[in-house]
This record gives sequence, structure tokens and C-alpha cells, in this order.
Amino acid sequence: MSTSIESVMQETRVFPPSAAFVEQANVSGMAAYEAMCRAAEQDYEGYWAKLARENIVWHKPFSAVLDESNAPFFQWFADGELNVSYNCLDRHLATQADKTALIFEADDAKVTRVTYRELHARVCQFANALRSRNIKKGDRVVIYMPMSIEVIVAMQACARIGAIHSVVFGGFSSKSLNERIEDATACAVITADAQMRGGKVMPLKPVVDEALAMGGCDSVHSIIVYRRAGSEIFWNAKLDLWWHDLIAGQDTSCEPEWVNSEHPLFILYTSGSTGKPKGVQHSSGGYLLGAMVSMKWVFDYKPSDIFWCTADVGWVTGHSYVCYGPLAMGATQVVFEGIPTFPDAGRFWKMIQSHKVTTFYTAPTAIRSLIKLGGELPKQYDLSSLRLLGTVGEPINPEAWMWYYTVVGQSRCPIVDTWWQTETGCHMIAPLPGVVATKPGSCTLPLPGIMTAIVNEAGEAVPREQGGFLVITRPFPSQIRTIWGDPERYRKSYFPEDMRGAYLAGDSAQCDKDGYFWIMGRIDDVLKVSGHRLGTMEIESTLAANPLVAEAAVVGKPHEIKGEAIVAFVVLKGARPHDAAAVKQVAENLRAWVGEKIGPIAKPDEIRFGDNLPKTRSGKIMRRLLRTIARGDEITQDVSTLENPAILEQLKEVVR
Ligand code: WT7
Repeated sequence: MSTSIESVMQETRVFPPSAAFVEQANVSGMAAYEAMCRAAEQDYEGYWAKLARENIVWHKPFSAVLDESNAPFFQWFADGELNVSYNCLDRHLATQADKTALIFEADDAKVTRVTYRELHARVCQFANALRSRNIKKGDRVVIYMPMSIEVIVAMQACARIGAIHSVVFGGFSSKSLNERIEDATACAVITADAQMRGGKVMPLKPVVDEALAMGGCDSVHSIIVYRRAGSEIFWNAKLDLWWHDLIAGQDTSCEPEWVNSEHPLFILYTSGSTGKPKGVQHSSGGYLLGAMVSMKWVFDYKPSDIFWCTADVGWVTGHSYVCYGPLAMGATQVVFEGIPTFPDAGRFWKMIQSHKVTTFYTAPTAIRSLIKLGGELPKQYDLSSLRLLGTVGEPINPEAWMWYYTVVGQSRCPIVDTWWQTETGCHMIAPLPGVVATKPGSCTLPLPGIMTAIVNEAGEAVPREQGGFLVITRPFPSQIRTIWGDPERYRKSYFPEDMRGAYLAGDSAQCDKDGYFWIMGRIDDVLKVSGHRLGTMEIESTLAANPLVAEAAVVGKPHEIKGEAIVAFVVLKGARPHDAAAVKQVAENLRAWVGEKIGPIAKPDEIRFGDNLPKTRSGKIMRRLLRTIARGDEITQDVSTLENPAILEQLKEVVR
């Protein structure tokens, strides 16, 4: 860990925003930012209450601001009533009904535009359709869909009737889908026949059928299928309903369900340090407020912007910066079905050119792969509409940052490197682009009103230029409310006693001499592979469930494009395969197994076999040692306690 700290800390380049950018920025200049920070410090509740009144249309105004009486189960604006879909749609009808809300570009480059008026009508219609299936406030609805206008309609329609959606990324397997449906006891699943990605048809409805066939999903009474690809699918007349049949004849207006501010808007499953994913539960009012203020402050949102966040709605980024934040702000945004490399690695740049995108938000892993596949390609397109760039999901290496800045942004656009998490709901640490001079690789300073700190094991603040745990010391409106069905795990994971009531993010970080935050990595057994969060335990227990496997340990190792690659060390029940062909075959089988059980993103990049795993005397797997081996570094740890040092030689063997 310390080597990576040193290397990022050597970064000395500083990029202040241009005077022209500062002048037009929503938060303009350091003095303005500092005044906001001071206002939050002096009257924390008053600060957030004012923002909540200014940004959200309340059906019934709140009087209570922050309730900490049942900490860490915090409540914000609890006696206020609102509807999130009303805030994203209806509020714009009087002022800008004919403004384009969505510019949807399909995999095959077909473009469909939807205005706020049309989107409102479609959401109402689908909300009525859900009500016709007796789906109501508080019911859980699982959404397993491609990027589409329909998936946004589905999420917004759930919000409209107070149903709690849980979007499952379309790349997850039937097993993962099954577990999430069961954990949420969902009453309905909204899906599509298939999705189109990179010119290929990838089935979705068949995965839902498989998930239900695994059992434990008796709560599901409706499966609503949007026809995207025209694929032949199995039809179960008892459960299955076509989207187009269900909306036929439904009214295009629909009275929203007014809910109180703490009503759960959604559950989103994410990996933690145990084998079981956590259902992160978000609120309505506090979450919406976070999505809105971060749009204004970090993305410097202007009504004339064409906003494009490339994230899939299966991740939190697609919730906050595709489905909710941009619509609540009344933005015009691009929504993209396909992948960045189809038909070639110029797709993003071509789309920025054709839709005149002003604000572009993507992941470091995408940037790195596009550098590799066509570092000169952006120069073939007119990217002069861009005014702001953003990244999210993992640390961005300074080389990729510089390329993004000079080649894509033509040294004109500030880059906002946004640190946040599924659990925080919106940006927590990110440069306000009209305020902060950026440094490549640093997410810089917290948003005004977000109280971050770096502490040691005892929860005490550490001095600058010293590493520690990243914590948020005061509750904030957009934070996770609980883990669905497991409040104790919520308390233990995020508010361990040593942290003195602060929210423990699970990242290590340090501040430099200017107070800029540098994220160093996770402190738990969580990997970031292509910006996706995967628990090593999840992959280990999946491997161990394979009939061939006795035991498995999973670690990460640095990867040029993906950030981290997954390396699995496996002990088989039978003999260790010896010749290269046998090793390859077993490894391929196990990779396919993990792909089938969790999803292709969790497939180990490398599998190594040993007769045993290195363990301490108390039987704990020596993961640090495995990490060293995976990286191919020299072993400097003490291995004298190992029962069988010869296994280290076995585990060092890489067969490709
Ligand atoms: C973890 C959260 C936030 C939406 C997408 C990921 C890492 C996130 C950054 C960044 C360095 C980052 C952290 C964090 N991370 N953004 N800008 N710089 N690391 O959400 O899947 O919940 O993952 O992603 O490790 O804890 P997530």
C-alpha cells in the first residue's frame, strides 16, 4: 500500500480552472465555497434545511430536519412529504414541457428523443399499469433491463406510486438475480426479452425464468417484459405480461403517491466483505437533495447543458446521475444503450460530437481502454461542445487523467474526479469546478456540508500527509438508511464502535499538505474491477461451491486497464492438475462457473492451483502473502510458520 501512496503523492501538477469558467460557475471561487462550508459548520441543520426547501418541491413542508435520536438510523426532513417522480417530471411541465429530457441512442445508433411532457405521460401510464397489477407503496419491484427509455420510465413509475425499486445490472447471472429477488421479497420483475450490446443480442427474460426456477421467489406475481430485440422467448401465462399490453389503454396522468421523506426510494445491492451482497436502502427526500445539489455544485449544471453520464442504471451512478439528478434538474441528457468500443473505439467521441454534449461523466477504466484502443481517435471528432469532464468509480492514474484533460478536454475543461459510494448516494469529495485547482489523481476537497476526516484505528484524526481510514463525521441527507432486512449488519459495517459515531467508508486515504484527499484503496476485502465493486468472499464462496473445489482464496492485483484483476488460488478436492492443458481446462471450467453464478464481471483473470493455501497457525489464510505472489513480487514476509513452504512454489506458477 505504501508504495502506491508515495507514487501518487509525487504528483505536483496543478490545474486551476480558467477565469472564464470560474466567472460563470454556480459556485464561483474559493471564497464562495468557504462561505458555504462555514455556513454548514455554524448551523448544520439550518444549512441543509435551506437547501432542501430551495431544491425540492414538498407536498407537505417539513419541520424536523435531522433526527439523531436513534443513531445510526438517522432521519432527515422526516415529517415532510414529497414524491420523487413529481420532482423529476411534473415540476417541469409548467416551465419547460417541450424541452428534450432524453436523447436515447441505441446500440445501432438509432436516436429517439423524448420531451419532459412525453416522459411524464409515459411514466404516468406505466405507473397506472403497475397499479393495475395491485403494486403499491412499499412493495419491492426488481428491474432487470437494458439501458433504455423504458428502464427510466420503470424506475420513475415505481417512485411515482411509492414502490421500492431494486435495479439489478443486466450483466448479473440468474443466481445473483434470484438472491436479490428473494432478499427483497419482490412482487414483480420488470425485464426485457433481450438487450443489444455491441451488435449482439443478449438474453434477459430467459435469465429471469432461470432465476425464478431456482426457487425462493414465490413473492413474484408479475413479470413485465419490454420487447426490445424481438427474440423468441418462453411464455408463462400465469406470470408474464407484455409491457405494451399492460400500458394499452392506461391513462397518461397519474396522481403521485405522496410519501414521507424517509420512505425508501430504492434498494441497490452491492458487495461487502462477506459472501452476501448488501441491499443498500436509500430514502426519498435526503437522497433526492444529494443528487440535486451535486448536479449544481459538481457538474455546474446549466439549463443549456447536454449532460451525459455513461453509467448503466444497474449501478448507483446510473441512479443518481441518469435517472434522478438530471431529471430533477430539468436537464437534457444522453442515454446510451451500447458499449464504448462498438462499432469502434470512437463511439463516445462521435456521440459527443453529434449530440453536442457539454458535460461528460465516465469511469477511469473506460478512459484507459479507449486510450489503448485509439488514443488519437478523439482528434478526429469535434469535441468543442464539451465544457466539463468527470470520472468516478476508482482512482484515476495521472497518465489517464492527463490524456482525458489534454486530448478529450483539449486542456479547456475542468475534470471532476468524484469520490463517493453506493452508500453515500451522491458525490462526497470532488472538486467544485469553478473553485478548486485540480491535481491529477486526487478527488480534492469535500462538498460543502460534508464533514470528512482521516482517522486512525481509534477514530482519532491523523495529521496531513499520513494515511488512515476515510470517515464522514456527521450524518448527511443522502446517506444509506439501513441494509434491507439486516439493520445489525448496517450498524456493524458502517458505524463500528471505534469510529466514535462516524460513518466508516471502507477506504483508506490521506490528505496532502493542501488538504486534498487522495484515495488509496479499500481497507476491506472489496475489489474494484473496471470500477465495479466485487467482494473477494463472494467469489471465494462461489468457487468453494463448485464440486471440484476444496478451498479458494481470492485477491486483487493491479491491472493496466481494469484497475484491479482478480486472482484466485484454488485447492481442488482431487489431485492438483499438473500439465498445462489440464490446468487450463480446470481453470476455464471454474471461470465459467463463476460467470454463471455471479456474472461475467466476477470471472477470475487468473487461477492458480496448490495442494494447500498458506495459512497462519490459527488457520487464517495469509492474504497479504497471496497478494505478493499474485503480483509476482518477491516474498519479504515471514513464512517460517508455514506448514508446507513448497506450496508457495506451486502457487507462483502461472499457466496461461
Ligand atoms: C468505492 C465505491 C461511486 C459510484 C460508483 C462506485 C471507489 C469511487 C472513486 C474515486 C477513488 C473511488 C472507492 C469507494 N471509488 N469513486 N473518484 N477515486 N476511488 O460505487 O461500487 O459503491 O464503490 O469505489 O473505493 O469506496 P461503489
